[in-house]
Amino acid sequence: MCGIIGYTGPLQAKDVLLNGLSQLEYRGYDSAGIAYFGPETDVHVVKTTGKVAQLRELCKSVREESHCGIGHTRWATHGGVTVENAHPHQAGKVTLIHNGIIENYHQLTVDFQLEGKLISQTDSEVAARVLDAIYDGDPLASIRRLIPLLEGSYGFCILFSDHPGEIYAVRNVSPLVAAYTHSGSIIASDLTALIPYTKKYAVVPENKIVRLTPYRMEFYEMDGQPARPEFLEVNWDTDAAMKNGFPHFMLKEIHEQPEALKNTILPRLSRGLPDFGEDKIPDALFARCSQIRIVACGTAMHAGMVARAVMEPLLRIPVLVSVASEFRYEDPLVSEETLTIVISQSGETIDTLAALRLAKELGSRVLSVVNVKGSTIARESDFVLYTHAGPEIAVASTKAYSVQLAALYMIACRMALVRGKMTEEEGAAFMKDLLDVIPAMEEMLRQSEEIKNIVRPLVDKPDAFFIGRNLDYAFSLEGALKLKEISYIHADAYAAGELKHGTIALIADQVPVIALATQDRVFSKMISNVREVKARGAYVILITKNGAEAAADLADVRIRIPDLHDRFTVFPIAVVLQLIAYYASLLKGLDVDQPRNLAKSVTVE
Ligand code: AGP
Repeated sequence: MCGIIGYTGPLQAKDVLLNGLSQLEYRGYDSAGIAYFGPETDVHVVKTTGKVAQLRELCKSVREESHCGIGHTRWATHGGVTVENAHPHQAGKVTLIHNGIIENYHQLTVDFQLEGKLISQTDSEVAARVLDAIYDGDPLASIRRLIPLLEGSYGFCILFSDHPGEIYAVRNVSPLVAAYTHSGSIIASDLTALIPYTKKYAVVPENKIVRLTPYRMEFYEMDGQPARPEFLEVNWDTDAAMKNGFPHFMLKEIHEQPEALKNTILPRLSRGLPDFGEDKIPDALFARCSQIRIVACGTAMHAGMVARAVMEPLLRIPVLVSVASEFRYEDPLVSEETLTIVISQSGETIDTLAALRLAKELGSRVLSVVNVKGSTIARESDFVLYTHAGPEIAVASTKAYSVQLAALYMIACRMALVRGKMTEEEGAAFMKDLLDVIPAMEEMLRQSEEIKNIVRPLVDKPDAFFIGRNLDYAFSLEGALKLKEISYIHADAYAAGELKHGTIALIADQVPVIALATQDRVFSKMISNVREVKARGAYVILITKNGAEAAADLADVRIRIPDLHDRFTVFPIAVVLQLIAYYASLLKGLDVDQPRNLAKSVTVE
């Protein structure tokens, strides 16, 4: 997600901005820039693709003093990684940086006759040009006129060249925090950049306008009346701030999933349907193939298993999933008729990269789903659908899994539309169901404490079993991996109908079984399987949809998820299974973010 910093005061603005951007690097980005008031009322912009270090190098040639400016690290959503698309964006007297997605930027481009005038492909530049078009010399009044025109999420910091030394800010969804300190006034997308200057800060309330001057910080309502924000005290160090107040990166990243899904889905929605035009993925890629091969490792492979269970019934072509380390040596039946989908959060997993190379040697076109821009797998793929989860720092993959699923679901939908397996009406309904998973995930996040309490009986057990049927079986694979990799409890996932063929011998008194029963078509059979393990003394955690009827004595604990279409229950379930693993590890006093023996990216074979 983009990083924002703004400063006005007695210090050298360039230094404050560059240091602030360095603190925000962990958020992940692909370009960076600053804008600052020169000695006159001119506003200078320095921006580059690449790292803050490169920006710092460029700024060495900046000689003039400056005491007011804004800085930005860009995590590309609209438009590629280019200098033109980097922030800040300038339009007339306006210089602006933006975190978020303006969903109606196409319409604004038309309404304000911006075609042919835009330098970049970003929604942010459109916002800057619209603001400049309505600017009448009064920043507060102009921003008040801008806000009703915008649809979507934004955190803006804005300079007006005829108001030197002042910074204006406004937000909707995208976070902003601000403080007035002895070193001047400062604003940022998160606390990490504020902590070197102050422990006391204000969360910028949504749709309140902030004016920062070297001597004060003012908040205004949309009607122009003064507003009073809530002031808070920070009690972490900078490292803790990287976790934005969460005790672990993993928990932070679990909670980031709703925003990560919005950032991954919304830029690819056009008239309610998936549109990969800006990703430069042609429909021809989806029209021609006679089979799909999905290749990945670990959590990414589990996302592939879910995608297979969704794609094959929809597309009516074979969809196979291979573990990358096996694919390389199984002499796979892959040809130019095959579409190979490679999934990787890091884009550096060596087994997955080798599998990609083999698929290409066999003539297959490769589409990769990757979270890290410019990574090796992304660069070697024929086509890339980037997920926009932001950096995933905890070794246990969480938000990457859910955004991979979102990307794969959009691919499935686009393919179905292109191949005539879905009407546009069905496609729009599918995409609405996909967007509806976001509030469902937020609902499960609100139940974190309840989930923590049900985990206690698990933590002293050596084994645990995850069972499910159909899509629930695919979901259970990821639940088992999460639990074992951070709590060291031996956990396995089984197709519930398979238990009777051996594994049920392991079910004895108080053996934990997490049973997923969210697929209507096989619900009754799943309940029978739960009865079988309960009859043998298992400690059963049963996860069903809200409305599902199940006898009270069937499970020791019941977790209910919102009533979504069967295909989409994986998203709230993922939150539940991630939290079960997180709290099991926490209660065992283990290193949640850095579990033993594991690395975040496996770049060795
Ligand atoms: C999952 O929690 C693990 N971190 C691991 O299985 C990971 O998913 C796997 O190594 C693949 O990594 P990648 O997505 O970066 O390729």
